[in-house]
Amino acid sequence: MTLRGIKMTVDQIINKIEKKKALVGIIGMGYVGLPLVLRFCEEGFQVLGFDVDSRKVARLKRGKSYLKSIPSSRMSQFARRGHLDVTDDFSRLAEPDCILICVPTPLTEKMEPDLQYIEKTIESIRKHLRRGQLIVLESTSYPGTTEELILPRLESTGLKIGKDFFLAYSPEREDPGNRRFTTQQIPKVISGVTPSCHKATDTLYRQVIQKVVPVSSPRVAELTKLLENIYRSVNIALVNELKMLADRMGIDIWEVVEAAGTKPFGFSPFYPGPGMGGHCIPIDPFYLSWKAREYDFTTRFIQLAGEINVHIPYYVVSKIVDALNEREKSIRGAKILILGVAYKKDVDDARESPALVIMDLLRKKGATLLYHDPHIPVLPSFRKYSFKLKSSFLTEGLLRRMDAAVVVTDHSQIDYPWIVKHTPLIIDTRNVTKNIRKWKKKIVKA
Ligand SMILES: NC(=O)c1ccc[n+]([C@@H]2O[C@H](COP(=O)([O-])OP(=O)(O)OC[C@H]3O[C@@H](n4cnc5c(N)ncnc54)[C@H](O)[C@@H]3O)[C@@H](O)[C@H]2O)c1
Repeated sequence: MTLRGIKMTVDQIINKIEKKKALVGIIGMGYVGLPLVLRFCEEGFQVLGFDVDSRKVARLKRGKSYLKSIPSSRMSQFARRGHLDVTDDFSRLAEPDCILICVPTPLTEKMEPDLQYIEKTIESIRKHLRRGQLIVLESTSYPGTTEELILPRLESTGLKIGKDFFLAYSPEREDPGNRRFTTQQIPKVISGVTPSCHKATDTLYRQVIQKVVPVSSPRVAELTKLLENIYRSVNIALVNELKMLADRMGIDIWEVVEAAGTKPFGFSPFYPGPGMGGHCIPIDPFYLSWKAREYDFTTRFIQLAGEINVHIPYYVVSKIVDALNEREKSIRGAKILILGVAYKKDVDDARESPALVIMDLLRKKGATLLYHDPHIPVLPSFRKYSFKLKSSFLTEGLLRRMDAAVVVTDHSQIDYPWIVKHTPLIIDTRNVTKNIRKWKKKIVKA
């Protein structure tokens, strides 16, 4: 193909995107994929969603969301008007002009990147790749994933990057449960493997995101996403370590963080908690540690933060055991109510939640467990844990029968003063009891 031919291909896709005639395919209908589906639909694009889970596909096809953060009322209009279709038939991957990959990137049992979802997705795309398609990886991964893992596989079709097809990386910054920032308002870092890949990607995201932040290469974009998460992981570990020291010194760490937070420059407050949760902060930093080994480099901050954060649920359990001991009660046989099992406030997701570790440790010590979480009526089974529990309906009688209640997640709709009033002992890992003056003797911060 001549130089003119190259320009034509990228201009064609850019033109199609600008006219909103490009069909947008999104692979992985999860916490990241679904908000993107909505965003593109809202701007008038036709969207084709892909997922391997046929039950999700059947629901979404009818415009019914399965995530609390995405009401069905926002989705159904697009399904009804034929702007949104969802499928588990991956042979349809030849249809979209732009394909965004939002599949999971977890860790293996040995804490190494588990790339099977990206690899399977790329294999499906490879089989159906056609001229003029733009492929964008959104899943979090180590620097080099786009160019070292994905690019050679797509080029094995004989199609040429930047000329026949376009490849890019643009990390998702979704923050489930955060109502202050919508997908549209969160600036989006974008990069492309070649200048034409970059241009097509830039055009695509400018249609749906208020501010696009271009960087020079996919490796820069990949490391940017990891830096954001490592920054959180390290700072959470720092404040959690100081929490344990402050406790020994008889100082309330929350009061300290709040006071330090009044400094108008050079300090961003991070708050202590029961340990790290979710499917980003505890996982993503280890993608970089793993890659760093290839460069004879040890990422010591990541390792240290990981060690401290993994230890925190054990610390919380030791505080529960000590508090019961003070009241001449043993943990064996103690009735303990866990308040909040979601990994963070006001979300309906318990994956990688520190509550699961705390519950497992308490169960192994012989405690009888109940939990209450308004967002998680039934606790599902996980790869490592299965509790077979349902959220208990809270009554004064139930609270009185407990030996202790442990606040693990600070959901907004829980009435904490009422709980403190009726429960004999409260272990508070989130400082929800900050303004409760009356029953101080019942409250142990952990
Ligand atoms: N959830 C967040 O807050 C968040 C924020 C930023 C980045 N991320 C990153 O985004 C990526 C996706 O995360 P998520 O939270 O949306 O995950 P998720 O588990 O909510 O959704 C992933 C979806 O992909 C589907 N899936 C799995 N394998 C597939 C395959 N081979 N083909 C098609 N679909 C497949 C699953 O059925 C699921 O519906 C991860 O890399 C994650 O680290 C997540």
